[in-house]
Amino acid sequence: MILKDKIRAQLPEWRERVTKLVKEKGDVKVGEVTISQVYGGMRDVKGLVTDISYVDPSEGIRFRGYTIPELLDKLPKPDGKEMPYIGGLYYLFLVGSLPTENEALEVENEWKKRGKVPEYVFEAIKALPSDAHPMTLFTLAVLTLQRESIFAREYHEGIKKDAYWEPMLEDSLNLTAKLPEIAAYIYRLKYKNCDIIPPDQNFDWAGNFAHMMGVTDKRYEDLSRLYFLLHSDHESGNVSAHTTHLVASSLSDIYYAASAGLSGLAGPLHGLANQECLIWLLEVKKKCGDCSSDKETLRQFAWDTLKSGQVIPGYGHAVLRKTDPRFTAQLEFGKKYFPEDDIFRLAALVYDVVPDILREQGKAKDPWPNVDAISGSLQYHYGIKEFDFYTVMFGVSRIIGVSANAIWARALGQPIERPKSLTTAMLEEIAAKAS
Ligand SMILES: CC(C)(COP(=O)(O)OP(=O)(O)OC[C@H]1O[C@@H](n2cnc3c(N)ncnc32)[C@H](O)[C@@H]1OP(=O)(O)O)[C@@H](O)C(=O)NCCC(=O)NCCS
Repeated sequence: MILKDKIRAQLPEWRERVTKLVKEKGDVKVGEVTISQVYGGMRDVKGLVTDISYVDPSEGIRFRGYTIPELLDKLPKPDGKEMPYIGGLYYLFLVGSLPTENEALEVENEWKKRGKVPEYVFEAIKALPSDAHPMTLFTLAVLTLQRESIFAREYHEGIKKDAYWEPMLEDSLNLTAKLPEIAAYIYRLKYKNCDIIPPDQNFDWAGNFAHMMGVTDKRYEDLSRLYFLLHSDHESGNVSAHTTHLVASSLSDIYYAASAGLSGLAGPLHGLANQECLIWLLEVKKKCGDCSSDKETLRQFAWDTLKSGQVIPGYGHAVLRKTDPRFTAQLEFGKKYFPEDDIFRLAALVYDVVPDILREQGKAKDPWPNVDAISGSLQYHYGIKEFDFYTVMFGVSRIIGVSANAIWARALGQPIERPKSLTTAMLEEIAAKAS
């Protein structure tokens, strides 16, 4: 398999590089930790390493060194389509360089070979109560697949440490291959009377998702490619990525680790924010009617939200200090294909109004929109109006990033994670000594 060969070829150099760095420069300080950081969610504490993506506070995400616009331009695309193959993105994450069209198709074909979802997964999903959240169904489906883990089996058979990454790669390909069908199944089961649309091997991975969702507008295939690209990775400290890494560091397989990451993604301050955003936009619309040109009413509504002690979903970020380029890519998509859509226009107007309000309020360090501020309005345009499903799509995409990271973490022998905790009395003592 091309992915395995390309990763294997790089490993001696990478392992030597890391070993040398740790051996020769292991005592060099990367930063210091303050009491506010200990109590403040470890914000800005540098304690993780990944070479797959990096979030620059003022520039946004780069995947393997490429910005979002560069990737949308350079990654291979299906004939006649505007957005790239996700197989090409996975290749980039795993191999580190841009794929040719054939290399992107190799990954797409691996996914086709491995895509069959076992019947017991659907049975497990169906066994949950009908009002269970779609993220519960999705997380359960991924966990249910754990019995397929090749890593877990080979570990118990005594595989050598140097080779751990190989079954991790196999598991990751097997899992990611099945995600579009599992997600679309959950959607059709919950919202379309279980009228399931089977996969069609003629589509690429993301196009097949659009097909199985039952959206007839062909442009939705491109939106799916864009969506899955944008949500895939955002360096390692965010909740879903860090949780997956932490769980995998105990040598759990990718099924356990990714389902834990998905549980983190389901929180309203993380992946669930896209659902909250759409709810907020719909409330704005209900309250002000068509206020897509009425900034004053919108301003009032935003202040009411803040004064009631709530956050404005989709705005702010723990690292970014500028409009998220993932927001901009989606804004451009909407402007190009449906600039007159009501909800889209409203989301665009919120972008004109909310940053000033957050600045005026003076609490949020970043008043700018993140990826979630607009993604729901694009889905809504194509008829995916069941907003509690949006985080499932985020999850499909996020497993692309976290699994690539998990493979590399295992290839480089990253150890079990175990930061140190202190008591409040100890921190008080440290503070007293410092003053
Ligand atoms: C993303 C988020 C969780 C980052 O949290 P953070 O790193 O703690 O953010 P900050 O350091 O800027 O927070 C400082 C203060 O500003 C507030 N703030 C941040 N973003 C805000 C927003 N969108 N609306 C209102 N207040 C906000 C915080 O709640 C915090 O208030 P507090 O001091 O009363 O606790 C936060 O901006 C947020 O809750 N945004 C809305 C939810 C969202 O969009 N999540 C998706 C992220 S991709």
